[in-house]
Amino acid sequence: MRGAKITALGCYVPPKVLNNFELESMVDTTNEWILERTGIRERHIAEPEVATSDLAVEAARVALSERGMDPSELDAILVCTVTPDMLFPATACLVQNRLGAREVWGFDLIAACCSFLYGLDLAADLVRSGSHQRVLVIGADTMSRIIDYSDRATCILFGDGAGAMLVEATDDPNEGIIDYIHEIDGSGGDSLKMPAGGSRIPASHKTVDDKLHFVHQEGQQVFKFAVRRMHEVASNLLERTGKSTSEIKLLVPHQANMRIINATAERLGLSPEQVVINIQHYGNTTGATIPLATRDAIRDGRLQKGDLVLFAAVGAGFTTGASLWRWSY
Ligand code: UT7
Repeated sequence: MRGAKITALGCYVPPKVLNNFELESMVDTTNEWILERTGIRERHIAEPEVATSDLAVEAARVALSERGMDPSELDAILVCTVTPDMLFPATACLVQNRLGAREVWGFDLIAACCSFLYGLDLAADLVRSGSHQRVLVIGADTMSRIIDYSDRATCILFGDGAGAMLVEATDDPNEGIIDYIHEIDGSGGDSLKMPAGGSRIPASHKTVDDKLHFVHQEGQQVFKFAVRRMHEVASNLLERTGKSTSEIKLLVPHQANMRIINATAERLGLSPEQVVINIQHYGNTTGATIPLATRDAIRDGRLQKGDLVLFAAVGAGFTTGASLWRWSY
């Protein structure tokens, strides 16, 4: 089977920044509490007229221009998000139209904080199967639209942003995707969810009054699951691929909480130099955290062609995943 490699990366965050001190005036919290418990200093928030497809299109354009590729050359567009512009049509269709991509298909993928990783590996499989040459994977979320800014337990955590990676075919066995392990566990579904707006609890005046269109989270349950599973799935993947932690140049984890990332790194036996953390600037952008963190690692000269990079994430569902790649540019 031929391989699949990442050939370009583009990100976009809306310019407006909401820092911890501003949150102090909105809810009963402090900069110290937020920093100590999460590592977050600030997050970017989209203006009211901006939707997820707008962020996604910006990120896609950066990735395509980095590669010098016309949108018409794409075979598929996957948009990984929990905050689509609408339930349907798929945000992928809106993005395709705005990009002007032709003779392309695509769809939205909902797997919360694992959605980008699932999309990336699905894109790799589409390419590896031989049926696709170029797949654009976009993780984009406008979390501020589904956050209750009077709930201090959740409003401090999330931000808005988008990131896109272009996946293309390669015949070189020394670059691109190596392997992945993904698992879902629906028994944790109640721990993190947006209860209303779907077929179970359709929108009504009551659902709005009861704040059921916002993120509801049992923080500690999610925290404990994330610490345990992010480590387990990553170490299972390393074992299956015969790689040791010393061979890993970088762990690029989903950015939900700095303490989850540090605990995972410690359990895996990784040094701080091997772990990318940029949660301080963006908070948890759900679908966008992994491309944003990868982009920052490249910018800082921490990720180069030939390096082994391990992606890992845990999110609502529960969803869990780890993916191992040999960086290719
Ligand atoms: O990417 C999706 C997956 N999501 C996650 O991975 C999130 C996982 N969970 C977490 O990151 C953490 O559980 C939180 C950051 C959400 C909360 O941190 P925690 O250390 O688990 O705090 P806690 O929920 O146990 O709350 C401790 C105390 C409580 O007060 P009492 O009951 O001890 O008096 C909370 O009411 O902290 C209080 N608290 C706050 N205090 C100041 C909760 N939020 C805040 C706040 N500011 N923003």
